[in-house]
Amino acid sequence: MQKQTPFSSSAASVGPSAMCVPGRAARVYGVDYRVFDDPAGGTLYVTRYGLPLIGYLDPAGWYLNRRYITEGQRMTTGTGTVYRLRMREHAERPLDFVVKVSRFAQDVPLDIRSTFDGAIDEQAAERARFLDPFQEFGVLMDLRRGRFGPSDLRICTKRPLAIYRAPVVEADWRLGRKASHLDRALREIEADQAASEQPVSLASDRVYVVLFHWVHGLDLQEAVEAGLLTVDELDPITSRVAHELRAKGFMVLDHKPQHIIVRPAGDGLLRRGGLLPYALIDFELLERTAEYQHHLRARRRSAAGS
Ligand SMILES: Nc1ncnc2c1ncn2[C@@H]1O[C@H](COP(=O)(O)OP(=O)(O)OP(=O)(O)O)[C@@H](O)[C@H]1O
Ligand SMILES: [Mg+2]
Repeated sequence: MQKQTPFSSSAASVGPSAMCVPGRAARVYGVDYRVFDDPAGGTLYVTRYGLPLIGYLDPAGWYLNRRYITEGQRMTTGTGTVYRLRMREHAERPLDFVVKVSRFAQDVPLDIRSTFDGAIDEQAAERARFLDPFQEFGVLMDLRRGRFGPSDLRICTKRPLAIYRAPVVEADWRLGRKASHLDRALREIEADQAASEQPVSLASDRVYVVLFHWVHGLDLQEAVEAGLLTVDELDPITSRVAHELRAKGFMVLDHKPQHIIVRPAGDGLLRRGGLLPYALIDFELLERTAEYQHHLRARRRSAAGS
């Protein structure tokens, strides 16, 4: 197959013309991607949110030259490998991205769910496993579509831009993937791709990196540290967000204040009708609720019967 690089020539601009980029099409877990093999041997899967920003996404400009590490800001509050990277070369306005190394098939650390347990039962905590990047984007896009639950409730989230499969083959011990988790992820994507002419697979020996847009603001913990929120407000807000998420058919197994971004305004926080508008930012452990799964199954059954 001919290798295509979308990043040189006019496709490197940011704007409507970037929508005309080539690359092959793929659909994984209900999400459409344009797929690009880079000369280094990596593969980039770009979502519809990433396409208008294609000029920024060339892995040679942020991953292969290790720029996300040398210039990015490491986010140290979480347990994963997460960087904030500011890029300004393709537009006057700088753009901030989140570069996050996928932890799929690794064991979930025991302390990951310790900060807030109000909405999650023990069983859910027991089965917690990191989604593979395609599953993560699939469930997140479904959440963003918001087809279930109250129609006047919308959950804002960071936008998923692209998944990058790195070119270098890594040793198993470096990736830390557990064989049983890995087998399951491989089987699931194979089943999802069964009808596809050019199926997308997961490479068990490669690092996967996910790119999201940065949500400007402060997480709830930072808002407390900045004196914009009191400690007493943390639990009720975190709990309200969990309930709203659940009403829309989803839950995040490690839901916590650090995953909720609010926006400073004046000398306080932006409020609407007394409530804080928020965006959610961590979906490694996102799940559909039993109610939503039931609804989806019923819909599939009735579609098959009609
Ligand atoms: N897209 C984003 N927009 C704004 N802030 C972000 C974004 N992504 C990460 N952050 C900041 O970086 C911190 C760590 O990010 P994130 O929660 O994704 O890491 P993690 O390693 O998965 O954390 P955890 O151990 O809680 O799973 C967040 O608490 C938040 O303050
Ligand atoms: Mg996380």
